[in-house]
Amino acid sequence: MSSVITPAAAAGTKIRLQCAAAAVTSRFPSRERALARPPDGSALRPVMGNYGFPILGHIMSSLVDPLNFARDRYDRYGPVSWAGGVGFRIVTLMGPEALETVWINKDKAFSSTRGWAPVIGPFFHRGIMLLDFDEHRDHRRIMQQSFTRTALDGYLALMRPGVARTISNWDSAQRFPFYTTVKDLLLDLAAEVFVGATLGAESARLSADFHDTVCGGQAIIRADVPGGTWARGLRARERLERYFGEQLPRRRAGDGTDLFSMLCRSRSDDGERFSDADIVNHMIFLLMAAHDTSAIAISMLVYELGRNTGWQDALRDEALSSDDDPTVDGLQHHPLLDAAFKEILRMYAPAGTLFRQTIKDTVVAGHHIPRRSQVAINVYASMRLADWWPDPDRFDPSRFTGGADATPVHRYAFAPFGGGVHKCIGQQFADMSVKVIMVQLLRRFDWRVRSGYRPRMTWGTGPTPADGLPITLRLRTAGK
Ligand code: HEM
Repeated sequence: MSSVITPAAAAGTKIRLQCAAAAVTSRFPSRERALARPPDGSALRPVMGNYGFPILGHIMSSLVDPLNFARDRYDRYGPVSWAGGVGFRIVTLMGPEALETVWINKDKAFSSTRGWAPVIGPFFHRGIMLLDFDEHRDHRRIMQQSFTRTALDGYLALMRPGVARTISNWDSAQRFPFYTTVKDLLLDLAAEVFVGATLGAESARLSADFHDTVCGGQAIIRADVPGGTWARGLRARERLERYFGEQLPRRRAGDGTDLFSMLCRSRSDDGERFSDADIVNHMIFLLMAAHDTSAIAISMLVYELGRNTGWQDALRDEALSSDDDPTVDGLQHHPLLDAAFKEILRMYAPAGTLFRQTIKDTVVAGHHIPRRSQVAINVYASMRLADWWPDPDRFDPSRFTGGADATPVHRYAFAPFGGGVHKCIGQQFADMSVKVIMVQLLRRFDWRVRSGYRPRMTWGTGPTPADGLPITLRLRTAGK
């Protein structure tokens, strides 16, 4: 279960309803049943589960405490189960073996187009993640040209001054709202690095429209009601479409190194390139894919380092001994930062649940999944299973520093960027942005979180801080 039905914006409501939901669900446990009967004569098992509370299903429990809800179901049903929510039945997959099956998609049974459309379709339609099969492959071949090493070097060169400028303007503060602030920083960076927009009014307008588009996809009332979040999101998307459309001819003709310009000029090996409409759709999707995921990762890393100050000190020593003006290559030589970032992705998977729909009957882990099943791939809870990760809720970057011994026992046990043909195209981009920001931050500041502080979390694309993530930030004295 996940935010497919009730999005992040329901956070306030869901917390108020927590007790009520828990009480009601235990008083009215819905009957356990099979999702569908496996074909006669097959040795397949049915997918078991239950609807949950009448109408709402398991919405409340899955949103209030997504992790423990998922782990309870895993303990009860194993890697494949189903649950109900507002008229839907959703099959949830957990654990590396089930994830591998859906990502490898050997029998082409899982459609991303159909899986993602009900979740984010109106706001991000025709984004590459929402394309399927041959069409997806053709688009990916072109898009890949905008993510080569040379292209990444260009993005880093655009990014570095903005990061340095912004972080040098931060000062010591008692309750510095880290998540909110880093989100703004990333939006400004996106305007420069993705869009090639000049900072100021242009980037502020873009950021606002982009913000409204993302919120539209998370609206509680999912209808075009004037003044509502959904309607605001749709209008914002229209403005983004117009903006990118108007800029296109200039970008096609120019030699910019921002992502927008690169997409305009990218060609596959066969010389294919994107149409104008493709570029607009991909740009809007890319902004979304890049933005909140990186903001969550950096924020949760800062939070864990604020609690685990020994690790913070070790990462700072590493940052202080590194090059002041790092390159993409240079950023890779931060083994402790690398391990800590990986550990954060494992603990707080920023793209926590992915969606697919079956377009034919198929099998996962010996279970029969019928055609037209909505499938949620629970990446977040999968990386918190004690079966694969000892003491899974403990922040311990040394899981990723120990060479061969630390290698997980299954290649999909650690999979925050997904797998198969839709695996994140921006993995190196994310790695580079998180590291360039963290190195600057570690060099200039130290920070703590209040003793016993646990951030209130909601659900956006994954677990997301809901309280701005206040930290105590202290400017370091040079040399200390
Ligand atoms: C920590 C940061 C990030 C995480 C954890 C993350 C995670 C993911 C995951 C799990 C998927 C697979 C979706 C699926 O299978 O349905 C994905 C796809 C994608 N990501 Fe990321 N992502 C991150 C940052 C970025 C950045 C920075 C960009 C762009 C610069 C980006 C662009 C994309 C795109 C375009 C796709 C779709 C690829 C396709 O369908 O072929 N992501 N990401």
